[in-house]
Amino acid sequence: MAQQNTQFLVLFLAVLSLFSRYNALKDDRLNHYFEEDIGFGYYPRVYPSYYSAIEDHGKLDNSVMPSSFQRYPSCYRVTSSLDRSTVVNVDDFGATGDKVRDTEAFEKAWMKACSLIGAVVLQVPAGKNYALKPVRFSGPCKSNLTVEMSGNIAASDDRSDYKEDNRHWLTFDGVDNLLVEGGGGKINGNGNIWWQNSCKINKTLALTFYKSRNLVVQNLNIQDAQQIHVSFEGCTDVRASGFTITAREKSDDCISIVSGSQHVTATNITCGPGHGISIGSLGAKNSMALVFNVTVDGAKLSGITNGVRIKTWQGGSGTASNITFQNIEMNNVTNPIIIDQNYCDQSNPCHEQSSAVQIKNVVYNNINGTSSSEVAINFNCSTNHPCQAIALQKVSLQNQEHGPAKAICNNVNLIKGDSDPKCPRVLYIELDTDTYTQKIASH
Ligand SMILES: *[C@@H]1O[C@H](CO)[C@@H](O)[C@H](O)[C@H]1NC(C)=O
Ligand SMILES: *[C@@H]1O[C@H](CO)[C@@H](O)[C@H](O)[C@H]1NC(C)=O
Ligand SMILES: *[C@@H]1O[C@H](CO)[C@@H](O)[C@H](O)[C@H]1NC(C)=O
Ligand SMILES: *[C@@H]1O[C@H](CO)[C@@H](O)[C@H](O)[C@H]1NC(C)=O
Ligand SMILES: *[C@@H]1O[C@H](CO)[C@@H](O)[C@H](O)[C@H]1NC(C)=O
Ligand SMILES: *[C@@H]1O[C@H](CO)[C@@H](O)[C@H](O)[C@H]1NC(C)=O
Ligand SMILES: *[C@@H]1O[C@H](CO)[C@@H](O)[C@H](O)[C@H]1NC(C)=O
Ligand SMILES: *[C@@H]1O[C@H](CO)[C@@H](O)[C@H](O)[C@H]1NC(C)=O
Repeated sequence: MAQQNTQFLVLFLAVLSLFSRYNALKDDRLNHYFEEDIGFGYYPRVYPSYYSAIEDHGKLDNSVMPSSFQRYPSCYRVTSSLDRSTVVNVDDFGATGDKVRDTEAFEKAWMKACSLIGAVVLQVPAGKNYALKPVRFSGPCKSNLTVEMSGNIAASDDRSDYKEDNRHWLTFDGVDNLLVEGGGGKINGNGNIWWQNSCKINKTLALTFYKSRNLVVQNLNIQDAQQIHVSFEGCTDVRASGFTITAREKSDDCISIVSGSQHVTATNITCGPGHGISIGSLGAKNSMALVFNVTVDGAKLSGITNGVRIKTWQGGSGTASNITFQNIEMNNVTNPIIIDQNYCDQSNPCHEQSSAVQIKNVVYNNINGTSSSEVAINFNCSTNHPCQAIALQKVSLQNQEHGPAKAICNNVNLIKGDSDPKCPRVLYIELDTDTYTQKIASH
C-alpha cells in the first residue's frame, strides 16, 4: 500500500514537472500527444507490453511497431496544406548556385519563412543545384514550417568555410513542429577536398537537428556524400523516414541519435555503403547523457562498418534506454550489432574510468543478414555498469565468407530470446511480468 502511494506520488510529480515544461511552450499544437507520451514513458505498467514481442515467440507485437504515423497527422501536412500555405522560395532571395549568394539567400528565406504566421513552405525548387556553406536555421519560428528540399544541395567544397566549426553543415536549431521533406533532390557532401589531411580522424559533416520538438524528416537522399550524416541532438518526438544515405567508402555514421533525444522513430532507412546507424556517442568528457525511447524499424544496411551501434565513452553518466532495432537487413556489415562502452575517438588513448552511461532495455528484433567479419554480435559493455535487459529476438546473422559468425558478449545481462549466433556463457534474465522483477536463469 505504502509502495503504491509512493509510486503514485512519483508519477504525479513526474507528470507535473513535465506538464509545466510542455506548457511553457508557446503554441504547442501537440500538447495532447505529449500527455500521452508522459503516460507511456513513466507508467511502469507499460513494461510488459514493451517486451511482448519477445515473450510471444515469433509474431511481432504491434505495440512496438510505430503505429505512430496515425498518432502524428502532421506527417502528411505537406500534401494537405500546400494550397493553404504561404510559399517562400529561396530563388526569390537570390539563390543561383553560387555558394556565397546561395548561403545568403537561404538565410534570408529562412528568416522570412520563420517569421511569418501560419503554415509556411520554404521551397528549394526541383531541378536546381545549390551550394551552401555551413548554415544555422534557428527557431523558434512563428510559423508551422515545411522545408521542401526538392533541389540538389551541395556542401561547399572549400575547407576554409569550415574553419570555425568542421562538424556541422546544415543545422536546424530549436525549430519545433518542423517538417523537412526531401522530395527528389540530392544532398551532396562534397567532402573529398576539405577534410584531406585535416586531422587524424576524418570528421563527418552533419545535417543536424538540434533541440527541436515534433520533427518530421522524410525522404532525404544523401548520396556520394563522403562524410555527411544526419544527427538528432536533444530532440523530442522525431519521425525520420525514407532516408537513403550512401558514401563511397567506409566511414562513420549514417544517422546518429545523441544525447537528450527521446521518442525518436526511424523507419525505412537505407544506409551504405559507407555509414551505419548509431546511438551516441554518449558520455564524452564525463558528460551526462540521456536518450530513451528510440526505435529503428525497417532498415537496409549494406557494406558498412557498424550496423546498429550504441557507443558510449568511459567516464560518462546517465542512461540510454528503451531502444528497439527491428526489421533490419544486414548485408556484408563488419559489426552488424554492436554496443561499445569503451568508445574512444581521440588521438590520446582513453584511460579506464569507473563510471559509464547505463544501457538498458534494448531490443534487437528480426535482424537478418551477413557479417563481413567473424564477430556478428559484439557487446562490449562496461565492467562496472553492465548492459541490462538486452534482448536478441529472431536475430540471424551469418559470416559472409568464412562460415558461422560468433557473438562476443561481455558484461551484458540478456533477456531470454533467440539468436544465431548466441551469446556464450551468459546469464539470461527472465522477466516476471507480474512483479516486474528480474529472475536470473542460466541458458
Ligand atoms: C515511445 O515513443 C513513441 C512515439 O515516438 C510512442 O508511441 C511510445 O508510446 C513511446 N513509448 C514509451 C515507452 O515511451
Ligand atoms: C522504458 O520502458 C519501460 C517499459 O515500457 C517504462 O516503464 C519506462 O518508464 C521507460 N523508461 C523511459 C525512460 O522511457
Ligand atoms: C500549426 O498547425 C496546427 C495544426 O496542424 C494549428 O493548430 C496551429 O494553430 C498552427 N500554428 C500556426 C502558428 O500556424
Ligand atoms: C580520411 O579520408 C582520406 C580521404 O578519403 C582517406 O585516404 C584516409 O584514409 C581517411 N583517414 C582515416 C583515419 O579514416
Ligand atoms: C521508403 O523510402 C523510399 C525513399 O527513400 C521511398 O521511395 C519508399 O516508398 C519508402 N517505402 C515505404 C514502405 O515507405
Ligand atoms: C529474416 O528472414 C526471415 C526468414 O527467411 C524472413 O521471413 C524475414 O522477413 C527476414 N527479415 C528481414 C528483416 O530481412
Ligand atoms: C564484403 O566486405 C568486404 C570488406 O569489408 C569486402 O572485401 C568484400 O568484397 C565484400 N563482399 C561482398 C560480397 O560485397
Ligand atoms: C572492447 O573494448 C576494448 C577497449 O576499446 C577493446 O580493447 C577490446 O578489444 C574490445 N573487445 C571486443 C571484443 O571488441
